[in-house]
Amino acid sequence: QELSAAELERTFIAIKPDGVQRGLIAEIIARFERKGYKLVAIKLVHPTKDFAEKHYDDLKARPFFNGLTDFLSSGPVVAMVWEGQGVIKYGRKMIGATAPLASEPGTIRGDFAIAVGRNIIHGSDGPETAKDEIALWFKPEELLTYKKETDKWLY
Ligand code: TYD
Repeated sequence: QELSAAELERTFIAIKPDGVQRGLIAEIIARFERKGYKLVAIKLVHPTKDFAEKHYDDLKARPFFNGLTDFLSSGPVVAMVWEGQGVIKYGRKMIGATAPLASEPGTIRGDFAIAVGRNIIHGSDGPETAKDEIALWFKPEELLTYKKETDKWLY
């Protein structure tokens, strides 16, 4: 059975240095996995300041840009690509609002974070950003296409 374009929707998700330091890797991965999304790429990377600036290029005029890119490049990050229907928008819903105190309980930021500058996770905010961020963080051959036994129970 061929996968449709919707099923192949992909988003870039990163566990930021604070999430890694606080031991939240498994907790965060578990939430995406249990929802039914499929992990198609994953690696642990320590981004350089220059790379962090590229990732947040659209925010370079903002006053928090320097602190934000210092933070993102301060330690290892878990970079991932998750696939599935609606994963870009629904992934953002699972992550919660940018400011953790405005995030609903039950969301990742709502459950585990307090400060906007330490909000533990990043997720692409739309199809264009997802495409650009996946291309920035991963080589095409690092993205895997594969079937899971559970696929037929999820769609
Ligand atoms: P943004 O892309 O607006 O939010 P999101 O991560 O929810 O897509 O901002 C990127 C990051 O910048 C955000 O996760 C935390 C940081 N940030 C601040 O430190 N201060 C701020 O006032 C804002 C808006 C963001």
